[in-house]
Amino acid sequence: MRVESIRYQNYRNLADFTLTPCEGVNIIYGNNAQGKTNILEGLWLFCGGHSFRTQSYRELIQFDKSFAKLECVFYGQERRQTAELTMETGGRVIKVNGVEQKTSSALIEKFCAVVFSPENLSLIKRGPSERRSFIDSAICREKLRNALTLQKYNRLLKQRNALLKEIVRNERLKETLSLWDEQLTTLGAEIVRRRMDFIKMMTERAVVYHKGISRGSEELRLRYVSSFGAEENDDVRTLKEKFLEKCRQSLQTEMLTGSTAAGAHRDDIEIIINGKNSRFFASQGQQRSAVLSLKLAEASVLRERMGENPVILFDDVLSELDNDRQDYLLNELRDCQVFITCCEKSNKEQLNEGKIFYVSEGNVEAEK
Ligand SMILES: Nc1ncnc2c1ncn2[C@@H]1O[C@H](COP(=O)(O)OP(=O)(O)O)[C@@H](O)[C@H]1O
Ligand SMILES: [Mg+2]
Repeated sequence: MRVESIRYQNYRNLADFTLTPCEGVNIIYGNNAQGKTNILEGLWLFCGGHSFRTQSYRELIQFDKSFAKLECVFYGQERRQTAELTMETGGRVIKVNGVEQKTSSALIEKFCAVVFSPENLSLIKRGPSERRSFIDSAICREKLRNALTLQKYNRLLKQRNALLKEIVRNERLKETLSLWDEQLTTLGAEIVRRRMDFIKMMTERAVVYHKGISRGSEELRLRYVSSFGAEENDDVRTLKEKFLEKCRQSLQTEMLTGSTAAGAHRDDIEIIINGKNSRFFASQGQQRSAVLSLKLAEASVLRERMGENPVILFDDVLSELDNDRQDYLLNELRDCQVFITCCEKSNKEQLNEGKIFYVSEGNVEAEK
């Protein structure tokens, strides 16, 4: 799919204007705080109505204005379509092909994109919960059933933890624990299986992108690190047995801590570059390349599911990358429409083919 045009009206600091990008790579460059990220954020909103920077759509409305409006013309599902988002202080109106929508989910089915912003580096830099939520949000998007399983698992986990605390005071409650364990491990096994399947699929793709970005010098690998000894080829039944066994073993310590020691909520995903855990041993540029490879892998998974290429939004990806890596992102991502923001003038000179936009104080000019 591709964006043919997007009109911004009273949006953040941007002057009212219509962006008409090309089908390939579009560079948006300018100094800091000029409005580059705002342009990408506006595009991303059409994926489902949520910003990657804020929870509050009121922030999107230009200071002193009462509404903001975005109008997008895009080519998707083999036809030209339109979508419109109006943010008012009182609420939001979403229109797809001229028809008002009750929820933003109509957008999710129509418009697909992948975004990278520097905050995504936390995927490598921070603790396991960041990586779990990356994988979980991916499997939830894949199937509603997965989202429901996760919800139930988290609810049960809370209840089991509460029960553990109770047992300390009332030993007799111990008998009821097996009922909770039965349910928790059934759901947990299912989640871990889905995650491992998804990681396998992601790895196959991310490896290829990472090789490309690093010009063959680095090998990326993802490894699911289980808190109860789950292994890649275990089926759901085996996973459940392992999880149950771990619950039995850990009961004494769990009663002391009042929390469930192992399970889907304690697992991690190692992102490994050339055999070393990237969280501790990779350079800034390597970490960035790994996250970018994962994002491109996510795009490739989306392409398979939606039957079309998602639009790629790269915010500030080029800094900290060497020339070869920048060149790969600017010139070798064929078949996709790409939007890349950057500050360096030199980056636009590296672009072999595409369109360049210069942003200054919210005003946007096409250069090429
Ligand atoms: N609702 C708003 N109304 C007007 N200006 C805004 C609004 N929200 C953010 N801004 C301004 O937008 C600018 C940041 O734009 P941004 O796209 O993040 O810059 P960059 O070019 O560095 O990516 C800041 O100067 C900020 O004050
Ligand atoms: Mg920015």
